[in-house]
Amino acid sequence: MSTPCFDLNRIRRETQVGAIEYREELASTNDLGLQLAQQQEVTLPLLVLAARQTAGRGRGDRRWWSDAGALTFSVVLDVDRPPPAVARQSLVSLTTALAISEALESLQPGLQVGVKWPNDVLVCSRKICGVLLERPARPAGRLVVGIGLNVNNSFAAAPTELQHRAISLRDAALSKFDLNDVLIRVLQRLADRLEQLIAHRFDVQACWRPRCVLTGRGVRVQTGRQSIAGVCRGIDESGALVLETPAGRQCCHSGTVESIDPD
Ligand code: BTN
Repeated sequence: MSTPCFDLNRIRRETQVGAIEYREELASTNDLGLQLAQQQEVTLPLLVLAARQTAGRGRGDRRWWSDAGALTFSVVLDVDRPPPAVARQSLVSLTTALAISEALESLQPGLQVGVKWPNDVLVCSRKICGVLLERPARPAGRLVVGIGLNVNNSFAAAPTELQHRAISLRDAALSKFDLNDVLIRVLQRLADRLEQLIAHRFDVQACWRPRCVLTGRGVRVQTGRQSIAGVCRGIDESGALVLETPAGRQCCHSGTVESIDPD
């Protein structure tokens, strides 16, 4: 497996990250991000970047499989910094998925990128990117945004169950991408959108609407022991998933969602 060649100076120059922790190999960039986020004096935003991730974690207790050519990184942020307001974690989560979608579309004009609540990014109904948000125990306000983006990797070598559910940018665009270009574009778009979110200048609901792959579909949301089924009506202004159920309108603030309509 060849090691991708990251241009750390260029990433520093062209993005708003304050510091970079780069490792050729890491179990999980979120694990290192969470560890470093606890250090009061760490420079933020901090980018934790791994050429190879050996034990990537997904949401819940899932694993995140990645192969050579994929991007695996985490950004440690301070989302509570003044001014002027505290951004809610769910809105940061949706904003991250939207920023990645916009970055991918700008890299490959014509590519149609969808979002699946809370923060999956899809191309051709397959997952191209997963996002894992985690908070360190302290200090308050810090957030680790872990991003796994399939760029030049191939799913031919992936576990069989992934082959029909995942896609890479290379598969979709039929060409290879420079990982630096993709990483920089995602980091720039993420920084811009988060800045706008914090300044109340980003309408997440409006931006989500045209990209939402679940709106109008029958879905089931699993939250802890509760399972709610209904027709998805998009998201509300707090970022909750809105379902029309036989018992009325229900808003889900967390959970795992699956479509129960045939494709
Ligand atoms: C999901 O869709 O379940 C979330 C996947 C998140 C994967 C990324 S890869 C970089 C970062 N480090 C991890 O261990 N996980 C996230």
